[in-house]
Amino acid sequence: MSSPVLLLRLLRRSGSRVRAIRGGTGALSGVHSAAPNRSIIDMSYSSHFMDFKGSSIPSTMKKLVVTELSPDFRQAVRVQTASVPTPGDADLLVRNRFVGINASDINYSSGRYDPSVKPPFDAGFEGIGEVVGLGLSASSRYTVGDTVAYFGFGSGAFAEYTVVPAKESVPVPAVKPEFLTLLVSGATAFIALKRLGDLAKGETVLVTAAAGGTGQFAVQFAKQAGCHVIGTCSSNEKAGFLKSIGCDRPINYKTEDLVKTLKKEYPQCVDVVYESVGGNMLDIAVNSLANKGRLIVIGFISGYQSASGLAPFKGTTLPVKLLQRSASIRGFFLPHFFSDYREALSSMMEMFAKGKLKCEVDCGDSSPEGRFEGLESVFRAVDYMYAGNNLGKVVVDVAPPSVGNSKL
Ligand SMILES: NC(=O)c1ccc[n+]([C@@H]2O[C@H](COP(=O)([O-])OP(=O)(O)OC[C@H]3O[C@@H](n4cnc5c(N)ncnc54)[C@H](OP(=O)(O)O)[C@@H]3O)[C@@H](O)[C@H]2O)c1
Repeated sequence: MSSPVLLLRLLRRSGSRVRAIRGGTGALSGVHSAAPNRSIIDMSYSSHFMDFKGSSIPSTMKKLVVTELSPDFRQAVRVQTASVPTPGDADLLVRNRFVGINASDINYSSGRYDPSVKPPFDAGFEGIGEVVGLGLSASSRYTVGDTVAYFGFGSGAFAEYTVVPAKESVPVPAVKPEFLTLLVSGATAFIALKRLGDLAKGETVLVTAAAGGTGQFAVQFAKQAGCHVIGTCSSNEKAGFLKSIGCDRPINYKTEDLVKTLKKEYPQCVDVVYESVGGNMLDIAVNSLANKGRLIVIGFISGYQSASGLAPFKGTTLPVKLLQRSASIRGFFLPHFFSDYREALSSMMEMFAKGKLKCEVDCGDSSPEGRFEGLESVFRAVDYMYAGNNLGKVVVDVAPPSVGNSKL
């Protein structure tokens, strides 16, 4: 009976759950290479989920639910009380500490991502926190107390607790919001520039919304590739930040005429554009393309709040403009590049660990109502981004220690 195998059989027969305890994840590289063997079976887990420090998980929690389709996040989403979910066999139950805000949270709440999904459905794409429960299969790679980050459309990250498939989780060395910036924002810049940018040393790269979540990474990766980088932004503070991460020519389009500045300072035009804004900004970017230039469509945030989700764009002359310059426009959508994802995350985590990558986080500390703390502040954080106020990745501290409910 002392054999772990026999214990496991007994527990299975009695319908109980088991938990494996093992050593640290060695997660600095970011990704598990091989699943470590389970060594000890902890029977305390057989009757109920327990968090790492032995205090029980509450029976209910708060989460944000899309109850009505709308690009107006406040209209679409409600705070609801729900049971804390139970992880399935291959799942982790994560107590969220930080969740990331993405421009597309309002595309998701308006049903644009999957028109077949009808409300109510859970909101939020990405989070980072502590594993507080897990299923049997998941216990071959994780244990209670591990720190993980995760990303997935429909993951329901805007909640105090989220169930996440273990295979879609990324072990992280600590619950720092900086790691959260890499999952979507960093990965998008890393993979898009690598796969579609074809960057060559000495080329000129224009990054729009350059001081934002994904823009900050595009600036740094283009600099690492030996390019001259221009970055658009809407304030002098953001321009100063862009300088600090190596941007050669930040342009505050509120105080400088973008078209005139590009024409005057870059008569040879730009080789690559990392374009996130759409509408008029996309027109300007297309007109700035050099011969054989590549424009990567990352997004079109200026249209997301409208009913169509699109911003007006003078597209009729596009074929002529592209042909005359042998230029191209390339679309990028992260879920289509998952085969590149693990390598991208590992590389970025290594760069961050070595101090070679700045991951700027904006938790709203300088906003009028203060830091984004608690789940309800997701609403303020979305507004803040759409007011163009953020510098870096917008992150909400769901369970700050001051609230008294964080174990992290
Ligand atoms: N294709 C993909 O797979 C993928 C993945 C992630 C993100 N994205 C896209 O990347 C873009 C940035 O997303 P993010 O989450 O990283 O946001 P973000 O850049 O952190 O924040 C958005 C920034 O866009 C600018 N902005 C906000 N509202 C605007 C409006 N109505 N009109 C014009 N500019 C506005 C503001 O910068 P300034 O005021 O400084 O201009 C703001 O700081 C979005 O288009 C998003 O959809 C795409």
